[in-house]
This record gives sequence, C-alpha cells and structure tokens, in this order.
Amino acid sequence: MQLKSKITGTGSYLPSKIITNDDLAEMVNTTDDWIMERTGIKERRVAGQDEANSDMCVEAAKKAVSAAGLKPEDLDMIIVATMSGDMPMPSTAAIVQHKFGAINAAAFDINAACSGFLYGLSVADKFIRTGASKKLLLIGAEVNSKFIDWKDRGTCVLFGDGAGAVVLEPADDGRGILSTELFTDGSMWDYICLPGGGSANPPSEETLREGLHHIKMRGNETFKVAVRTLEKLVINTLEKNNIEPSELAMLIPHQANLRIISATAKRLNLPMSRVAVNIEKYGNTSSASIPIALDEVVRAGRLRDNDYVLLEAFGGGLTWASALIKW
Ligand code: COA
Repeated sequence: MQLKSKITGTGSYLPSKIITNDDLAEMVNTTDDWIMERTGIKERRVAGQDEANSDMCVEAAKKAVSAAGLKPEDLDMIIVATMSGDMPMPSTAAIVQHKFGAINAAAFDINAACSGFLYGLSVADKFIRTGASKKLLLIGAEVNSKFIDWKDRGTCVLFGDGAGAVVLEPADDGRGILSTELFTDGSMWDYICLPGGGSANPPSEETLREGLHHIKMRGNETFKVAVRTLEKLVINTLEKNNIEPSELAMLIPHQANLRIISATAKRLNLPMSRVAVNIEKYGNTSSASIPIALDEVVRAGRLRDNDYVLLEAFGGGLTWASALIKW
C-alpha cells in the first residue's frame, strides 16, 4: 500500500485573556449584536504583553507531541505556519526548535496567511510521503492582536490569537492525508495585507504615522470572493477523490466568518452538527484556526478511524486550500 502521512497527535493553546464584544463596544463604535450577526464572533483571546508567537507554539507543541507518544528530540522537522512570527528573521520555527528542545529537527516557517496551515500540511505531506521526514511537527500560530489597529472597527472585531499543532508520521494502512489542493491569486494581494515593515515599505516614522504596520482588509469584497471560491473548492476536492458529500464525517473550516462557514456547509448539504465551529470563542486566528478546531474535535472524540474529514481555508494572498483526510 502507498505511503501516506497520518496525523498521530494534536494539541492547541489559547492565551487566557478574553476580549468580549462588549469590551470592544467600549473601544470603537460597534455593538455585540452587529458583530454576532455579521461574523458569529462573541469573544476572542489575546496574548499577554510578554507572550510571543513561539511561546504559544511551544505550548501547543507539548500537547501534540505528547499525544503522539513522542519526545521533542524524536522530531526531524518543524514547520510553523504564521504571518505574525516573533521577528522577520530568524524563523519562528527556529526559535520553537530551541525553546522546545527539538534538537534533531530542521525548522522553517511558511506564510500563506489564513491558508497557512493547509499550505504547511501540503508541504509536510510531501516530506513524509517521500521518506525525507518521519516525525514532523506542523504548527499554525498567530498573535494577530499585536498587528491590529484597535481603533479600526472593520478589523479589530474579527481577529484573535492562538496556536494549534499536529504531528505527522508515515502510515501504510490506507489512512491519512488523501489529497491537498493549493491555490493563489496574487492580483488581489491588497484585499488583506500588512503593508509596512517589509522591503516595499521599510519601517520608518512615516510608516508608523500612516498605520502601515496594521492588518488592512477590504472585508466585503473579500467576503464575496471567499464564499464563491470555497463553495467551488470543496465540491472539486470531493469530486477529485470520488467521495460524495454525504460520506463526509466532518468539515473543519477556517474560522473567518460564520456566514462563510454556513454557506460552505450548505453547498455540501452538510448539517452544522458535522461542521467544526469555534469562531464564537476565538474569532479568526488565521493559520491557527484549523489546527485548534481539529484538536477540539479530536479531544471531544468526534472522529473515528476511517472517517472522511475535509479541511478548507481562505485568506490573504489571496490564497485558498483544502485537505481531505481518511482519519
Ligand atoms: N461595527 C458596526 N458597524 C461596522 C463594523 C463594526 N465592527 N464594521 C463595519 N461596520 C459598518 C461599515 O462601516 C458599513 O457601514 P456603511 O454601510 O455605513 O458604510 C456597514 O457596517 C457594512 O459594512 P460591510 O463591510 O459591508 O459589512 P459586511 O457585511 O461585509 O461584514 C465583515 C463585514 C468584515 C464581517 C465581512 O465582510 C467579512 O467577514 N469579510 C471577510 C473576512 C474574511 O473572510 N477574510 C478572509 C480570511 S482572513
């Protein structure tokens, strides 16, 4: 039987500080009703002042690696999917490697914004299938709160912080990742972006004054592309694998907006009981949202061996991606 990569452990970490919609209503011109109705978000988690992305990665990693029955030194590769890393250089993955004591692992980051975890999963899958990696830790982690303009009601109500991790190992029993699909349309790069601090707009007093170090989003335009694109993506992914929507045990979507999640579920004719939803508690944690949701689903015992699970995401780039797993 052909070698596949199997998720053998999951873990997640959410910072303890909670910001509710009512808290936000005291900071910007918004209401709990508006945010709930338009997004499905009730509250979100925010990292502490001294808490860096890599700190959250390590907490999620401890749980995933322990669930897989491994030790940090067993890992041969660490991939961190993030757009809010500790610093531009070195990679957050290198810092995680050190803090976690994964002394035998090569480590690097991937940035595909909210699709980052699935881009990472696709890359990880190739390393495992080719035999180049045998014990791989993939983490999706974001500290969005530190890059948000807390005066911009169009974005500050949406995002949250968190980390999720999975361990991947080879398997030859027919279970594991069946397919991954990756797509990008860079012509819409400015729909969601953080324009300051890179080589296009190096940090300066001017970039600070103009607020270029904050996440910018053309929300309504992004929303429309996301709904259209994701509906097509999930149908195409299942068709490619000759699987009917009714055969799906769970859909684990990126958590950007409950209306987008519901539209995708409706297109698949899937009851919401078979869709992982935690956006109410955490908001949009970008590349962390899918591994956090997956960890919650696994720990709640909602997945059984051989279940078909579909993962999908959409985000800055614009990027979108899916993964189909036989659990
Ligand atoms: N509270 C109250 N009013 C708000 C608000 C807030 N937090 N944010 C925006 N508004 C206002 C707007 O100013 C606008 O007012 P106007 O009609 O007077 O101009 C009105 O609400 C409608 O804004 P709009 O942006 O059209 O709302 P929307 O229904 O598109 O919902 C989002 C906004 C951001 C929730 C939604 O567009 C969204 O989720 N976008 C996609 C996010 C996404 O998928 N990202 C990709 C993955 S990261």
